[in-house]
Amino acid sequence: MMTTDAAISAGRMILRGGRPLAGEVVLRGAKNSLPKIMVAALLTGEKCTLRNVAEIADVAIVSELIRALGGEVSAPEPGVLEISAANLRPMERQVLKTFSGKSRIPILACGPMLARFGASPVPSLGGCRIGTRPVDFHIRGLQDLGATLHDETGNAHLTCERLTGNKLHLEYPSVGATEQMILAAVLAHGKTELSNAAIEPEIMDLIMALQKMGAIISVDVDRVITIEGVRELGGYDHAAMPDRLEAASWASAAAATGGRIFVRNARQVDMMTFLNQFRKIGGDFEVTGDGIAFWRREWGLHSTVLETDVHPGFMTDWQQPFVIALTQAAGVSIVHETVYEERFGYVEALNRMGAQIQIYRECLGGLHCRFGQRNYLHSGVIVGPTPLHGAEIYIPDLRAGFSYVIAALVAAGASTLTNTSLIQRGYENLIPKLHALGAEVVEAE
Ligand code: EPU
Repeated sequence: MMTTDAAISAGRMILRGGRPLAGEVVLRGAKNSLPKIMVAALLTGEKCTLRNVAEIADVAIVSELIRALGGEVSAPEPGVLEISAANLRPMERQVLKTFSGKSRIPILACGPMLARFGASPVPSLGGCRIGTRPVDFHIRGLQDLGATLHDETGNAHLTCERLTGNKLHLEYPSVGATEQMILAAVLAHGKTELSNAAIEPEIMDLIMALQKMGAIISVDVDRVITIEGVRELGGYDHAAMPDRLEAASWASAAAATGGRIFVRNARQVDMMTFLNQFRKIGGDFEVTGDGIAFWRREWGLHSTVLETDVHPGFMTDWQQPFVIALTQAAGVSIVHETVYEERFGYVEALNRMGAQIQIYRECLGGLHCRFGQRNYLHSGVIVGPTPLHGAEIYIPDLRAGFSYVIAALVAAGASTLTNTSLIQRGYENLIPKLHALGAEVVEAE
């Protein structure tokens, strides 16, 4: 299992582009699902077994967090984690400070901590810098379930007797806040009805693990999730869903480099919106029982108009790798980012590589967007196809990091990427996978 030290070391990679990526990669459990299901194990004293576990930094960080709270995490075999929170301790602020800045996951421990101990400090959070990413929905939601916020400067913490179910409405269908409410409400007294909830497949994966533990959760078609609190929960044996964000990243790499990549374990059901867009720009795919093969059609890629959105829309995490494919598409593409206000910061480096991407404050799309008229550069216009050339690039966030890898593999000449360890947050075995696809890449000191 990867250590946290490996997770935070910077890292450098030298890549030489110009070859189509061809071959097979294997997906394991989703980065945005695994850590949450690990946190669910804090809700019970019984053993939980998590399967299909990828060796990514977020899993390592949450393993360390659970251990720091008195829990046990072991890996009896590759890809399997056994978690026991039988001897869980209340969370001390100092423990939490150790994890501050490394991941967004620790905030999700608030619900389980409140359920088991009636108290939880509120962590300051890490994660990718792609917007302000506040946690106001999380805190307000927990308050609505009966928790009290004590907000001494720099030492915010929550306390409660027993959390009590309530009717809650999210201002925006936030993934994390939805998970927070579910994890807090499963052991609350009575029923919680959460409207305008996020319904991403990763949330369904968490709900399935919780259902195995004894939770009663229903999901209605109109973004309403109802949780009937139970007195206690048991363990789970659960295989996490495959990482559909990684699958889309490799698909974009196949389209951008003109190669063909079979992504073993990719599932059509999780990716239907992506597959539609992929086909619209001239990509093609074949779905088999074992995965999905991706390539671009022989007459090349062409431009499109798209807007990111919450599920079942086009995911924000698909946006960055997809834009690299759009730099190789004929025509003018328009991408309106409606989930994060600052997810276009990565294009400056792409333009240095030869891309022609302009970003605008205006909403260039039909969706109602929280960022319109507010000075956020959140719409991109991409003119293609543009030849790219190698460059030296510092990686600012996970998805941008993978996107630069694709851009470097499209580009003529060598590129040097620094801060590559950020990519390990979500992409397991990146270098071996790239080698298996025929990429020229070396890790440098
Ligand atoms: N928001 C608030 N207040 C809150 C919570 C969210 O204003 O209390 C806003 C955010 O600022 C953002 C929007 O709501 O503008 C959506 O944020 P959300 O809470 O849905 O995101 P998250 O839970 O922090 C997860 C994934 C992200 C993914 C988003 C959207 C994990 C660990 N992270 O983040 O993944 O982009 O949902 O699907 O699950 C990535 O994998 O690269 C990544 C960033």
